[in-house]
Amino acid sequence: MTQHYRITLLPGDGIGPEIMAVAVKVMQVVGQHLNLTFEFQEALIGGAAIDATGEPLPAKTLDLCKSSDAVLLAAIGGYKWDTLPRHLRPETGLLALRAGLELFANLRPAKILPQLIDASSLKREVVEGVDIMVVRELTGGIYFGQPKGVFATETGEKRGVNTMAYTESEIDRIGRVAFETARKRRKQLCSVDKANVLEVSQLWRDRITALASEYPDVELSHMYVDNAAMQLVRNPRQFDTIVTGNLFGDILSDEAAMLTGSIGMLPSASMGASGPGLFEPVHGSAPDIAEQDKANPLAQVLSAAMMLRYGLNQPEAADRIEQAVMKVLDEGKRTGDIMSEGMTLLGCQAMGEALVQALD
Ligand code: IPM
Ligand code: MG
Repeated sequence: MTQHYRITLLPGDGIGPEIMAVAVKVMQVVGQHLNLTFEFQEALIGGAAIDATGEPLPAKTLDLCKSSDAVLLAAIGGYKWDTLPRHLRPETGLLALRAGLELFANLRPAKILPQLIDASSLKREVVEGVDIMVVRELTGGIYFGQPKGVFATETGEKRGVNTMAYTESEIDRIGRVAFETARKRRKQLCSVDKANVLEVSQLWRDRITALASEYPDVELSHMYVDNAAMQLVRNPRQFDTIVTGNLFGDILSDEAAMLTGSIGMLPSASMGASGPGLFEPVHGSAPDIAEQDKANPLAQVLSAAMMLRYGLNQPEAADRIEQAVMKVLDEGKRTGDIMSEGMTLLGCQAMGEALVQALD
């Protein structure tokens, strides 16, 4: 029987449309092999939406996302929109999408691929075997806490304010996702906070500690965020699953990503309690190389695989895509960001064609 899925595509800005085109092609080919049909509907977000409609997340886009089975996003942002007021920034559109779909759990795997080990800026013996999952809280913390804004003080000076806040229920629900995730991996969970200084972190630590009794098979540890940043480059293999708040997760997931050599390789999944998930590469829109056919489409393609695995429950389709990515890497095919001596340099489109061949 043919399975039919409605997927909203959000190509966004910069290299977004180029890498999205590759992911769509790959999904179509896999779909043909496995009797899956995809109805792709494209919508505007980020700078592209600002230019066309004056807002970074048009209501039409959010509605379309809500009515689909899953959402595949490429990347948003660019120099052109960097100086606009905050409510008109591309990033605001992405944050509104995460909030609008209630995607509180962000899964960011950082797994070193043996083929790319020399692309890492760290020594082989440090990064070999690294396989980390960062579980980042995505709809709370300092990104969304109130009050926020720039206010005038009594003396008329401006004062910028953001608030890092978590409720017990917000901590518990991300904590549960993290324990469940660790359970499916090596059963080690490290919760990262700043409990030596921040009250919000102390509550975080207390709740995560309390939850641990429900998951006796998972080994829980705690680490301060500054130490975690250091340990990630000192001895990254000590980590299995990391759970942390929105801001710390933003920073640590970029750091973890870079261990693997290229942020251009890493996918992510954002999920809520129900409804469609959002799948997107960890990297940004790379406006400096947009429209030059230089972008690495592999994180986008791997995001499509994550969408099939976690969002649509089609693990076989996900496996096939991941295997195709491994195959092109084994064949020595590389985009510029992961290029090394003796390998074959390909552009974005050619990498897409190589993937399609690998799938056949
Ligand atoms: C990310 C990005 C976003 C974030 C920006 C673009 C709003 O850095 O997904 O990590 O800070 O969450
Ligand atoms: Mg980030």
